[in-house]
Amino acid sequence: METAAQMLLSGIGKISNKRAHEISEELMKQIDTASKARDQAREQVEQRNYEITIEISQLEAAIVTLKEEVSKKSSELQNLEHVAAERGTRISEIEISMDSEDTTKTCDTKAVEFVPVKIEEHDFSKMDIKPRTLTVVDRHKSCEIRALYDLFGAHAPPHLSSIQDSLKNLDHLKIAENLESVPPSRMSSPKASTTSQIQAEAWEALRQALIYFRGRPLGTIAAMDHSEELLNYNQVFVRDFFPSALAFLMNREPEVVKNFLMKTLRLQSWEKRIDRFQLGAGVMPASFKVLHDTRRNTETLIADFGESAIGRVAPVDSGFWWIILLRAYTRSTGDSSLADTPECQKGIRLILTLCLSEGFDTFPTLLCADGCCMIDRRMGIYGYPIEIQALFFMALKCALTLLKQDDKGKELLELITKRLQALSYHIRTYFWLDFSQLNDIYRYKTEEYSHTAVNKFNVMPDSLPDWVFDFMPNPGGYFIGNVSPSRMDFRWFCLGNCIAILSSLATPDQSDAIMDLLEARWEELVGEMPLKACYPALETHEWRIITGCDPKNTRWSYHNGGSWPDILFAVTVLLWLLTAASIKTGRPHIAKRAIDLAETRLPKDSWPEYYDGKLGRYVGKQARKFQTWSVAGYLVAKMMLDDPSLLGIVALEEDRQMRPTLTRSSSWS
Ligand code: GLC
Repeated sequence: METAAQMLLSGIGKISNKRAHEISEELMKQIDTASKARDQAREQVEQRNYEITIEISQLEAAIVTLKEEVSKKSSELQNLEHVAAERGTRISEIEISMDSEDTTKTCDTKAVEFVPVKIEEHDFSKMDIKPRTLTVVDRHKSCEIRALYDLFGAHAPPHLSSIQDSLKNLDHLKIAENLESVPPSRMSSPKASTTSQIQAEAWEALRQALIYFRGRPLGTIAAMDHSEELLNYNQVFVRDFFPSALAFLMNREPEVVKNFLMKTLRLQSWEKRIDRFQLGAGVMPASFKVLHDTRRNTETLIADFGESAIGRVAPVDSGFWWIILLRAYTRSTGDSSLADTPECQKGIRLILTLCLSEGFDTFPTLLCADGCCMIDRRMGIYGYPIEIQALFFMALKCALTLLKQDDKGKELLELITKRLQALSYHIRTYFWLDFSQLNDIYRYKTEEYSHTAVNKFNVMPDSLPDWVFDFMPNPGGYFIGNVSPSRMDFRWFCLGNCIAILSSLATPDQSDAIMDLLEARWEELVGEMPLKACYPALETHEWRIITGCDPKNTRWSYHNGGSWPDILFAVTVLLWLLTAASIKTGRPHIAKRAIDLAETRLPKDSWPEYYDGKLGRYVGKQARKFQTWSVAGYLVAKMMLDDPSLLGIVALEEDRQMRPTLTRSSSWS
């Protein structure tokens, strides 16, 4: 019985072991199937993810293409609108001319070929940049004014002087009149065809200088002279590109300017070092170039912020040129979307923060190292050079129109406004030199200690150079090169004075006086090639001490009294400034005279960088040929002279609130 029970138990045990084994096998199988199913599901998810990624990138590519199409279409639309607007204007002009036909019959209109532009007094920002044709009403007014001038001329009876005064306010019409006085036959004369041939040649040279980055035009290189060692002349210089940019903007080709503005902004964000020292974040490059690696088929940009430049000086002017160009681009295209991007807003803030930060300064002007601008090597311009101060002023004024009133911009806008007031007061008062001011300095007392001091900077009258007494005409005046404690640099610098006129840093009286001086000292400042970068040249001992015996800057050469279409500074590049300045002060004949001079030499001499000699007669000893800004400077000058309304792209109106207490007339009494 017992044995039977044991057998039964062991039988049951065997059966349950077997069952347990079967169950566990079954479970294992199920686990295996489940994990296979899971892996499969995972794979499917991954596959789907992958497909989604591809779909997304395809969609992104489609969006980019669509965006491009949209922008192409909107620019086509803009062009169409532009054409429509021009046609509209034309139609209304024809209507007006039909209405007023009778009233104009007595007027001699045969010489009228050009466009008088209606401008409020010096208010260039309100000018319509688009060229328009002359209406008969305009012609009629212009004829009346000319008739009145003819009638009264220089011998106006005293009671008619008020009429003359009000006529003077119509300077903008004088621009047209001067141009009108060119006989119509001139357009088809051999001289005219030579001129257009020169222009065509200049355009060809300018386009040759274009460089491309990844298929897009990005700027113009400094010179196309293959006979000379390149050094850095195969680079796009920010300051050199400015006249090129204006030429393209005026010719309604803004693409290269936009690319340039965006790319240089990218370069700004690079880390900049000289040895172990890091430069400020806002510094813009002096120049850059495109490096082509033909083996790897790649293109890279290489920029110089001063770490490779001769003398290792950072270009203080680059950031200012960039801001001024951004405003010119916005103004000429009417497209503010570029300036409004967060990147551009940040770029402006970075540049200006560098200049507006507080320090030990007692002056609102900007303290600089020698060679930090167009004069990019030692020339004794360290301290507060007028070129930088004028550019600083102009950039601040442009930034006022470009910066948004948002949280980040607001504080800066306040700083800018305050600085502009202090800066304009300081420069208009202390940098200004005319006959009366010169006489005051000549009689200065020294060592004055108090708030009432007249000779605030303790300038020694004995430091007045001999030449300045003969050089100073009456009337006439200019902003001197530099003002700092016990040091006034009385040299005349062209670019600073021209920018002062363009930006309305100079008051209308001062602008007039600068042009008076230019006319009175034509031989010294223009001679045979416009225009001297600075006057006079440093010679002998002074040259040794101040330039450090620089063999390139010997007297009347390169920056030291050379003529730069751009001169001892750069001969031709300044032509456009001269033109702009002379149109603004109502004296286009000055620009015409200068352009005529330049035309006789520049193409013949292959557009050199600068001329040497007291009169600027000799091609500079180391001047590059086919210097791009000589070419572009000429083109811009020509275009502006033909259509003065283009001046609105660069010139800034006077801010009446900033009128100083000291004007030329008050300092003359
Ligand atoms: C000279 C000029 C400088 C210019 C450069 C390129 O160095 O002094 O102002 O930018 O050439 O043309």
